[in-house]
Amino acid sequence: MNSWYSSSTARHWTTAATAPTLAGTALDFHRAFPGYAPTPLVPVPDVAGELGVGRVLVKDESSRLGLPAFKILGASWACRQVLTAQPGATLVAATEGNHGRAVAAMARHFGVPATVFVPQVMLPRTAARIEGEGAEVVRVAGDYDATVRRASEYADAAPGRALVQDTAWPGYQQVPAWIVEGYQTLLAEIDAELGGAPDLVVVPVGVGSLAEAVVRHYRRPGGPRPRLMSAEPDTAACALASLSAGHPVAVPTGATVMAGLNCPTVSTSAWPVLQSGLDAAVAVTDDDARQAMADLDRLGLSSGPCGAATLAAARAALGRDAPPERRTALDLGPAAVAVLLSTEGNTESSTEGKPA
Ligand SMILES: Cc1ncc(COP(=O)(O)O)c(C=O)c1O
Repeated sequence: MNSWYSSSTARHWTTAATAPTLAGTALDFHRAFPGYAPTPLVPVPDVAGELGVGRVLVKDESSRLGLPAFKILGASWACRQVLTAQPGATLVAATEGNHGRAVAAMARHFGVPATVFVPQVMLPRTAARIEGEGAEVVRVAGDYDATVRRASEYADAAPGRALVQDTAWPGYQQVPAWIVEGYQTLLAEIDAELGGAPDLVVVPVGVGSLAEAVVRHYRRPGGPRPRLMSAEPDTAACALASLSAGHPVAVPTGATVMAGLNCPTVSTSAWPVLQSGLDAAVAVTDDDARQAMADLDRLGLSSGPCGAATLAAARAALGRDAPPERRTALDLGPAAVAVLLSTEGNTESSTEGKPA
């Protein structure tokens, strides 16, 4: 399979205005949320030297609203909107880990029950963290897509249940749109801190909702137009395969250390946005992601495999051993500012979840 895709037209594309929300904006909601603070944007000059750009900054999502991943930005806003429309509902979600834990945490925050469906292959400690937030966890024999189908059927089977899923499909669009809106808080923080947009943003892709947020944000009418590049595991590169084919393609998935990116299909709402507005897509190996994690760790950054995948991807595009046409396609000058979205902390090396 190809490990690289690029588009020469994506930088010129502009999104239509986004759908109106029930009330207020996600950014205002987050700013008023207990414990909210922008996450750090950390310069890594060694990496900038290695990649031959002016500055590299890591957006460090290792601690976001009390959880070690960015996902609660989307889950919090979506849960709030869902519970405004359907007060007291039991929140239902499927997850490879981070989204379900975030929905469970929000259910606790709003004082409602949560049921979270997880693939059979989920590590017991990951499931235990979701249960630790007070949710009921249900294991499903099958991959991530099968788990999403089970969660959706369960939510539909009785009144008083509401599915909060971070991927869209025909007939299920509104909640994932709220989740994408919630993720955009992270991008507003980056622009506020830099006093404008960076020149390159590298984003990890599972179902592509976070990447959809990145493209919507940086391809808005009149907005800046940085280069946007996705990072995926080579064993679950559904966006890369779809972009290369020119239509959505489901890929078989196995095991990867980048568990949050282990998705066979792109969200239907993300697909047209990524196809139009993403400049490049690259696949990385587990070894590359592990190396990137270790290197970020040495630089004092806690980055889990999905987060560090963006450094691995930047290396695959701009590193010394990268094919030169990749740098040409990205068209970045020597003073370019690159932001790597490190979407989760390294929970395996921390004391989180262990007895004190
Ligand atoms: C840590 C982390 N990074 C990135 C992603 C990818 O987000 P998306 O599935 O919206 O592409 C996920 C998804 O669960 C994740 O958990």
